[in-house]
Amino acid sequence: MSKYSEDIYTEPSNIDVDTLKNLGPLAPLAGVWQGERGTDLAPSRAGSETSPFVDRIELQPLDPQTSGPQLLYGLRYHQHVKRPGQIATFHDQIGYFLWEPATGIVIQTLAIPRGQIAMASGKAAKDAKEFELVATGGDANFGVLSNPFLDYGFRTIEYRIKISAHADGTWSYDEDTVLMIRGRSEPFHHRDRSVLFKIAEPTPNPLALK
Ligand code: HEM
Repeated sequence: MSKYSEDIYTEPSNIDVDTLKNLGPLAPLAGVWQGERGTDLAPSRAGSETSPFVDRIELQPLDPQTSGPQLLYGLRYHQHVKRPGQIATFHDQIGYFLWEPATGIVIQTLAIPRGQIAMASGKAAKDAKEFELVATGGDANFGVLSNPFLDYGFRTIEYRIKISAHADGTWSYDEDTVLMIRGRSEPFHHRDRSVLFKIAEPTPNPLALK
């Protein structure tokens, strides 16, 4: 028996259109943020390389999203990462963070311009201050897809992100992207961490503004 209803078309009625009030554990992430002391551990020919970075992340609320009976609230994001004092993009990422109030499921979609996409999920309480999302290579729902070269040279077998909202209004992430690198026998843990400080408030979603 499926956990879903036979009726896949009827949408919920009386949806609250103010996304900022319905983001559950994602609420502390809404807005525009800057990180000044990020650290990246990435693979290199010599083995690995650790680099400091600065990042800017904009997370803006979407109108509520329904797929038949399923209701999701969420944030659209863009993360732009540079090395301190440099102009060149070190890492660029876009996607959505989504919250399903009915199930307590949080989803992150991500796309990066290496030709790679992933979708990670995890469960969290509505008022959780910390949660973890996971995507597993090969999973049909919460998986990772890479272009053929990346799959050949640097296969991503798992992506994990732990997000913590702090009492002073900042939040932080700790990511572990697990790579099987051609010619190496052990998985490589590509780690990225940063603490984000708010630089601007979010703009309410179009339906809430109306
Ligand atoms: C703040 C976040 C991140 C930063 C700063 C970052 C940075 C880097 C850097 C510097 C490299 C080494 C190769 C190069 O110089 O291009 C690299 C490699 C790689 N990254 Fe990331 N990365 C981040 C997050 C991610 C995420 C979330 C994924 C995928 C889920 C990912 C997937 C990869 C892959 C597959 C490689 C291997 C390809 C290669 O070494 O050229 N990265 N990353």
